[in-house]
Amino acid sequence: MSTLITNIGELTTNDPDLGRLTDAALVLAGGEVAWVGSAANPPAADTRVDVEGRAVLPGWVDSHTHLVFAGDRTAEFEARMAGKPYTAGGIATTVNATRAASDDELAAVIARHVAEAVAQGTTYVETKTGYGLTVEDEVRSARIAGEHADEVTFLGAHLVPPGADADSYVALVAGEMLDAVAPFVRWADVFCERGAFDEDQSRTVLKAAAARGLGLRVHGNQLGEGPGVRLAVELGAASVDHCTYLSTSDIEALAGSNTIATLLPACDLSTRQSLPPARELLDAGATVALASNCNPGSSYTTSMAYCVTTAVLQMRMTVEEAVHAATRAGALALDRADLGHLAVGARADVHVLDAPSATHLAYRPGVPLTHAVWRKGERVR
Ligand code: NIG
Repeated sequence: MSTLITNIGELTTNDPDLGRLTDAALVLAGGEVAWVGSAANPPAADTRVDVEGRAVLPGWVDSHTHLVFAGDRTAEFEARMAGKPYTAGGIATTVNATRAASDDELAAVIARHVAEAVAQGTTYVETKTGYGLTVEDEVRSARIAGEHADEVTFLGAHLVPPGADADSYVALVAGEMLDAVAPFVRWADVFCERGAFDEDQSRTVLKAAAARGLGLRVHGNQLGEGPGVRLAVELGAASVDHCTYLSTSDIEALAGSNTIATLLPACDLSTRQSLPPARELLDAGATVALASNCNPGSSYTTSMAYCVTTAVLQMRMTVEEAVHAATRAGALALDRADLGHLAVGARADVHVLDAPSATHLAYRPGVPLTHAVWRKGERVR
């Protein structure tokens, strides 16, 4: 079954040779992009969809979410909007609710949020454990995550559970917990931040994960400058996420590495932090990704379009840079060469905007612009 999408007004391919095409067409077949070219003479296909001059992008790649959770933190958000600072301590509220929830309740929450994301053009979702924090609850979170998200990251090192001894908990995470969760996940992550895990504790967990063949990611530099970025680069992590407070040497280290700087602007706004130095990172030569960080505490949104709009309007990124960051760079942060671009052979993840160009994502802030979505070649909206 093949699909021709034709009469594309502006096609963002994210392919260095193809670039941005006008009056273009795409053929999807076998879950992949089979042909890209001019709308003047496209090949035949089983189905033909005329998008009437609309803009087409690769589907959003949301490379950072925390969707295995239960409970509600509206009151914490309200208090923050009234001036109370964000602290990682609120994670414990969600841990209690998550432990108390049934498997079906957790599955319903993640399924609802993934569906919400797909309806807005997201075609690939990473999600993390980290609201279980016991061996049993982390395994359960990883298993349920794998049934609904595309990639799963182990975040047993999210917070030292209240009442636990930090060193004993790190030993548990880096030993028994990792052994139990590893079969369900591709990545391991650590919240390396004051109030969570320090540099040595983070290194211990990350090295133990690498020794078990997991890829590495780091939550770093979210609430202040610290060792997260440096450690991520040192250990060759695929991504360091947040990067809200960076020193010049952090920016240089990222620019000289393959570690992606994943920025989470919806989180920074929702926790009343500064926005990250995207322009400085890009100008230094670092690769910047954007992700939603959807979670009930610090960033309760699945909207990648909101992140792109914010990046353009408030972080001095161009539309092209922001779209690339939310698609191709997100794929690079997950080490997926087949995602986030629309060249022949790429996964057929396609997002049609109800607008003539991607510029409208920033030009019309807050307006829902998703018109149609294909995921692995199948129309899902
Ligand atoms: O990425 N930084 C740590 N973890 C999440 C927040 C989790 C929460 O507050 O529930 C984040 O922002």
